Amino acid sequence: METDPVKMDALSKGAFAPIYPLIASQITEKIGVKKGICIDVGAGPASLSIAMAKISHLKIYALDVKEEMCKIAEKNITQAELSERITTVKGDVHNMPFPNNSTDLVISRGSVPFWKDLKTAFCEIYRVLKPGGAAYIGGGFGNHQLKEKLKKELNNEKTKSGENNFKIPKINIDKLEKAVNKAGINNYILINDDSGLWVLIRKSIN
Ligand SMILES: C[S@@+](CC[C@H](N)C(=O)[O-])C[C@H]1O[C@@H](n2cnc3c(N)ncnc32)[C@H](O)[C@@H]1O
Repeated sequence: METDPVKMDALSKGAFAPIYPLIASQITEKIGVKKGICIDVGAGPASLSIAMAKISHLKIYALDVKEEMCKIAEKNITQAELSERITTVKGDVHNMPFPNNSTDLVISRGSVPFWKDLKTAFCEIYRVLKPGGAAYIGGGFGNHQLKEKLKKELNNEKTKSGENNFKIPKINIDKLEKAVNKAGINNYILINDDSGLWVLIRKSIN
């Protein structure tokens, strides 16, 4: 299954638009990292990167495996006048083009279900985190109200067009936890509530 870059861009500026500032504020509240280096894995059109840049002093790398998605993200970042704060990077979560211990924060929304090898992906995320750094990885719509509203809107779209244009893949909580454990990560918590399903990882200092 693949994400269509043009459809994802339209969705992120339309029905999904309110979720990104909400998720960005939830990440900031839960993790508290507001400056340094951040990687947004599977950033797509960069809506979450843009929302994070607006409420922090982070330097953000919007990483995506698809060239076309990076080009769309580039355009959106320029339009938001955030080119000095956000850089697009074409790359794969399974082999991230960043040095060891280089990143304060790794975030990712809606990309996990597309990753082929979750254990390798989490090893990579942990590798690039600085000691003391944190990651917030998963998917969701931020709160109950938005989740219900978006489910309805996507269903209406499906009925109108007669096909499911945008299937939202689900993350499996057991699979997620197993992968984090297999990657040798001990300091994590799972969040499974109206905000979505997320794993919050902290890399210890020693
Ligand atoms: C559903 S979109 C989510 C985009 C964005 N995070 C958002 O919430 O609007 C999933 C994104 O993950 C990217 N992706 C899929 N597999 C990836 C991988 N192995 N490494 C990096 N990005 C990947 C896709 O190209 C796509 O842009």
